[in-house]
Amino acid sequence: MTQHLAAPTAPASGTRTDWWRDAVIYQVYPRSFADGNGDGMGDLAGIRARLPYLRDLGVDAVWLSPFYSSPQADAGYDVADYRAIDPMFGDLHDADALLRDAHALGLRVIVDLVPNHSSDQHDWFQRALREGPGSPLRERYHFRPGKGADGELPPNDWESIFGGPAWTRVEDGEWYLHLFAPEQPDFNWEHPAVRDEFRSILRFWLDMGVDGFRVDVAHGLVKAEGLPDLGTHDQLKLLGNDAMPFFDQDGVHEIYRSWRAVLAEYAGNDLGPAGSGGRGQGSGARILVAEAWTPTVERAAAYVRPDEMHQAFNFHYLGTYWDAAELRAVIDESLAAMRPVGAPATWVLSNHDVTRHATRFANPPGLGTQLCTPGDRELGLRRARAATLLMLALPGSAYVYQGEELGLPDVTDLPDEVRQDPSFVRASGQDGFRDGCRVPIPWTVDGPSHGFGAGGSWLPQPAGWGELSVQAQTGDPDSTLELYRRALHVRRTQPGLGAGDSLEWLDAPEGVLAFRREGFVCTANTTGAPVRMPAPGRVLLANTAVEIVDGTTELPADTTAWWAV
Ligand code: NOJ
Repeated sequence: MTQHLAAPTAPASGTRTDWWRDAVIYQVYPRSFADGNGDGMGDLAGIRARLPYLRDLGVDAVWLSPFYSSPQADAGYDVADYRAIDPMFGDLHDADALLRDAHALGLRVIVDLVPNHSSDQHDWFQRALREGPGSPLRERYHFRPGKGADGELPPNDWESIFGGPAWTRVEDGEWYLHLFAPEQPDFNWEHPAVRDEFRSILRFWLDMGVDGFRVDVAHGLVKAEGLPDLGTHDQLKLLGNDAMPFFDQDGVHEIYRSWRAVLAEYAGNDLGPAGSGGRGQGSGARILVAEAWTPTVERAAAYVRPDEMHQAFNFHYLGTYWDAAELRAVIDESLAAMRPVGAPATWVLSNHDVTRHATRFANPPGLGTQLCTPGDRELGLRRARAATLLMLALPGSAYVYQGEELGLPDVTDLPDEVRQDPSFVRASGQDGFRDGCRVPIPWTVDGPSHGFGAGGSWLPQPAGWGELSVQAQTGDPDSTLELYRRALHVRRTQPGLGAGDSLEWLDAPEGVLAFRREGFVCTANTTGAPVRMPAPGRVLLANTAVEIVDGTTELPADTTAWWAV
């Protein structure tokens, strides 16, 4: 029989300055979470109204993807004004109200900071364009003359991550660098004005009361001196595996040390009914999280040295398939890399840039993290639920992407004409795009946009979305939503979960992971068949029913079980 422990709901992190070490952080993608004004686009009012749902789910903090003033060439990762909210999401009063409500409910709020590039509509860039070659404003970006007799060739051979050249020529003949879309010109981080501006932006949001920042493209700010050619046109294949002249340069670390010093000036926020922005617990409670795609976990660990950031996303874990040997290797590597720098390991399975893990695991291994085939949905969901329980049992902090608690798959059949991801338009021929994981989430069985809002939804929701809604799953003990709720509540009360920086592997049959933490054992069967093994203790939670007969269990296929020992 599957057994579930009743778990108290007291916040685990409310009074701690190091709450982030074992926090479960829920990513809200504002466009697609909840629409408060019925215009088909998610907004801050919608998020605010759903905060009690997140409190009840049992997460510690919320990370909000960008809501700043933006032309939305890359869904808000193209910021025109870092101190303003885009009207489609609300205004600064809404942000203030959201922060206060979240804190009063015991939830921390991390915002996205986009320092590698601005929007081409940013005032600095527009002035740089107007003022022409030689303008001091051009030095805040990477403007260069072209190569060739008439400067008709780009200054170097770098390619945009979204496909095509990383340079665009402007009317006066100069070129500017954009590692992403042409609407996202890269800042020149050698320029003191850029450094000053971002320290000031940090203070603006810290004064507003945010609990930290997820730093976009944290590995990209500094470029190799002289912007040297890469010497290959197969650049996208090298990304994430090889050293690149525009990523993970040693110079980025000085920037994060200066940011850490800014954060250290701020005390943490009070949480709970008396939540009050800006005051409260001692310094060290506001955090920096690196979105840094590095060739190795060791390189990622450099971003979380004691005087730099607090956490870095573990994309090596996200990229690992549902396979015991591969998972064990990446877990060991991650813990070993983080331990010497004293940072918590982090774990993540889904986000707004990759195919949801319920769909990745529905497909065969080796296809990467951007797929466009639905695969075997039932298999994918079973594995996804097991993978989540494994992730939540590991020592460190875990990230949950909105909708994964509903077991949502990627929407793989969006018509081309509704897609908005710039990489779809620019990288034609490339498989898999990011709109499929960004479809607005279903809250109710029926109704316009399944309770997302009173109107439609900016990306169409597929048939069957209502059956996956919060309403449909609430109270159903077998639902994925109730599994997440129970798991998060057990995690708050079971000392062996989340905390610490190590685990003890136990002998287990092939294809099964088994490890012990204080008072607790986790077993994960990644194979497609049941595996007979001694029952390590009493079942706390499992994603499928686990039978125990005479001290022995047949751990079902694709099942993770948590055991009290
Ligand atoms: C990483 C973000 O997660 C992604 O959505 C965005 O397109 C790029 N950075 C560029 O900002």
